[in-house]
Amino acid sequence: IKKIGVLTSGGDSPGMNAAIRAVVRAGLSNDVEVYGIRDGYLGLHQNRIKKLERYSVSDVINRGGTFLGSARFPEFKEESVRRQAIENLKEHGIEALVVIGGDGSYMGAKKLTEMGYPCIGLPGTIDNDIAGTDFTIGFDTALNVILDAVDRLRDTSSSHKRISIVEVMGRHCGDLALSAAVAGGAEFVVVPEQGFDKESLISQIESGIERGKRHALVVICEHITDVNALAKEVETRTQLETRATILGHIQRGGSPTGRDRILASRMGAFAVQLLIEGQGGRCIGLLNNQLVHHDIIDCIENMRRPFNTEMFKLCSTLF
Ligand code: F6P
Repeated sequence: IKKIGVLTSGGDSPGMNAAIRAVVRAGLSNDVEVYGIRDGYLGLHQNRIKKLERYSVSDVINRGGTFLGSARFPEFKEESVRRQAIENLKEHGIEALVVIGGDGSYMGAKKLTEMGYPCIGLPGTIDNDIAGTDFTIGFDTALNVILDAVDRLRDTSSSHKRISIVEVMGRHCGDLALSAAVAGGAEFVVVPEQGFDKESLISQIESGIERGKRHALVVICEHITDVNALAKEVETRTQLETRATILGHIQRGGSPTGRDRILASRMGAFAVQLLIEGQGGRCIGLLNNQLVHHDIIDCIENMRRPFNTEMFKLCSTLF
């Protein structure tokens, strides 16, 4: 293989730059040219493709976001759009594509692979919702951003004897909420995998108050309920002042942690190695600290992420 392309797609995540850097540098070390595609599948469709040099990726390992840009591009579901994308890649002589992104991006890579164009998927999302890997690139950084916010909320809710409800990202995966709750010492956690029972949450808060608790932290995953309405109801029922905080896109920014930089560097170099070995149509994961790869079609169609029930039980033990 002589030429490969790399793009970042979907919601950005800290560590994407480190992954692009690893693809470029590992490629060049093996005499493979690397082409950067701007703004994900959108830029691929618009043929915005440029060769990357060793120095194109200088000083990016510590930067959040993605210097290639990213986009959500639902039109990529259309076969004619993907056909154009493949033509653009072929026009540059690019023989395979490394896609760094979340589940929507994996779907695009799977479809290209099914059309005979080899892709390698790298899990780049803060949500940690990709099958076949223990961790995604960006999860650890987002977790630490959330923890910083949770620690600050603890200070003020403890001073004011308030209940603080914190909504975190994760789309439909509770990993960020669960990890933040355990590491932040929150009293309650609500994740989509376990369903949401408002009455039980309120009665648990009430029994905490009966036991003498003067403040409480609740971490809840997004898309479960309206947290402002929940805060009002909790306040009325418990007679304790309650505030909701939606952390939002702050969670997606910032310099990647060491853990995310290392994960991204290992995965990026591994993607190049697989392509040199002639293996396309794969997606990369880290299981028990070992790099692994799976068939991308099988990963999307059949593999599921297990929910960490041990961690969930730990929450009720420690709260
Ligand atoms: O997938 C990453 C993510 O940040 C999710 O946690 C969140 O639901 C979504 O993207 C937000 O998307 P957007 O940036 O398009 O609003």
